[in-house]
Amino acid sequence: MTLDVDTSRRPGPDGPIVRSAIRFRFRGRDVEVSAFAPRTTLLDWLRIEQGAVGAKEGCGEGDCGACTVMLVRRNGGDVSYAPVNACILLLGQIDGAELVTIEDLATGDALHPVQEAMVATHGSQCGFCTPGIVMSLAALHETAPEPPARAAIRDQLAGNLCRCTGYKPIVEAAVQAGVRGAQPSRWTGLADAPRRDLLVGDDAQFFAAPADMDSLAAFYLAHPDATLLAGGTDVGLWITKGLKDLRKIIWLGHVAGLADIADGAASLRLGAGVDLARAMPHLGAIHPDLGEVMRRFGSAQVRASGTVGGNLANGSPIGDLAPCLIALGATLELRRGAQTRTLPLEDFFLDYRKQDRQAGEFVVAVTIPKLGARDRFCAFKVSKRLDEDISAVLAAFKFEVVDQRIGAARMAYGGMAGVPARARSAEGFIIGARLDDEKTWRGGLTALGLDFTPLSDQRASAAYRSLVARNLLLKALMEMRGAPLQDTRIAPPREAVS
Ligand SMILES: Cc1cc2nc3c(=O)[nH]c(=O)nc-3n(C[C@H](O)[C@H](O)[C@H](O)COP(=O)(O)OP(=O)(O)OC[C@H]3O[C@@H](n4cnc5c(N)ncnc54)[C@H](O)[C@@H]3O)c2cc1C
Ligand code: FES
Ligand code: FES
Repeated sequence: MTLDVDTSRRPGPDGPIVRSAIRFRFRGRDVEVSAFAPRTTLLDWLRIEQGAVGAKEGCGEGDCGACTVMLVRRNGGDVSYAPVNACILLLGQIDGAELVTIEDLATGDALHPVQEAMVATHGSQCGFCTPGIVMSLAALHETAPEPPARAAIRDQLAGNLCRCTGYKPIVEAAVQAGVRGAQPSRWTGLADAPRRDLLVGDDAQFFAAPADMDSLAAFYLAHPDATLLAGGTDVGLWITKGLKDLRKIIWLGHVAGLADIADGAASLRLGAGVDLARAMPHLGAIHPDLGEVMRRFGSAQVRASGTVGGNLANGSPIGDLAPCLIALGATLELRRGAQTRTLPLEDFFLDYRKQDRQAGEFVVAVTIPKLGARDRFCAFKVSKRLDEDISAVLAAFKFEVVDQRIGAARMAYGGMAGVPARARSAEGFIIGARLDDEKTWRGGLTALGLDFTPLSDQRASAAYRSLVARNLLLKALMEMRGAPLQDTRIAPPREAVS
């Protein structure tokens, strides 16, 4: 079996066309691993096969951060230092990286600055969370250009739970540890990151990593029953919590061009493989509300691994990006074999977890129009916890406003139906409404009830969701106008909440 259907396209003068082992740097050596089950997690490999038990298993689903390790990757002249959750990252995903675990931080008896500071501030009690916390802070120590503010430290720690110590001494430790700054790093990544297709396994089970878009298209068409794996922050849980024995995995992490970003004056194009951490500043530059949605997206670990394409292709009704990008009028680019097509993002979501995607077809990119001079935009995420929590409701609004009158409207909600969806009835009523005339808002607020019949689940009741949806539209209208509500009769009935 070959990865590339048209093998003549790639003569491979420097060796075999397809690599059959993953290669990474670990403890000062370049390591190759050629035999592993595709579904093997990095945490299992470390703890069970390497006896490296510093990284702990707390939740096994990316929430607690006890398993955090650092991946160092070279990309051109840049080196990135990403904290990742080893429990939901698959072993194959460390191909081409340098792996740093808690065991690698101290040099002999000399502790890493973060470890020293954790001792000095009494940042650890039972110690279960400590390796993960130290690794998250070590990644910040490597990357932050200057000593981070406490808010940035708290953001970095949003994916690390500690049940004993309390976060004050841990944040204090991060302040005391400072940053690496201009000092050379001890970890520089794998010198010659692989550029050829990877295929570990056989026809019955494999972990594949195509090196370019043509290889991916051909290989996925030949194996449409394979699971596409991007960051694995959803797929990893199918394995650790769903106990799925995934036998055929195509990882997208090496596909050239799939993680490209084109940030132009009129639009932003994000390749499907762009991770959420890289997407964040570009989205935040479109509007600060998008920056805030991204800041609250999972945790530093989830954003370092999770991708834009994974979030959209997953088709979750409570995924955060879809409503925001639908409101902005984004279009999705898909490819199957040699065929590509584009469609408005909202048309991609057909029904609960059913997307307009054929067998062998994958998401290539999403293109997001920038806001025009007349456009006003708001996006709000409502979840039980502020950090690292999935939305109960997410609402995003783009209104074109001329002389206080709304001339065009795109309103999109997550958590209100089986798919992320536009509120088309409410849009019809809001068009023509005036920001300076509250009574013209009533139609839109009421029509939301025609658009959605939400469900009750563990995140929120149906009544709560309906009330929040209405409140968020009201909040958006007030924010766009820049003044609080005058006519309190428009305020939603409080008794509706349960
Ligand atoms: C602790 C935790 C917190 C989270 N918090 C949030 C949150 O706040 N908001 C939120 O929206 N989500 C959240 N998530 C869910 C998840 O992180 C996101 O959905 C993420 O964007 C998924 O991206 P990924 O690259 O990891 O996808 P993967 O897990 O790799 O894949 C997800 C799905 O997309 C498919 N896929 C991936 N790429 C492509 C492609 N290019 N073409 C076609 N199919 C593709 C895969 O086959 C799979 O079906 C959280 C998850 C965890 C574990
Ligand atoms: S064990 Fe909890 S995030 Fe990995
Ligand atoms: S020190 Fe016990 S969980 Fe953090």
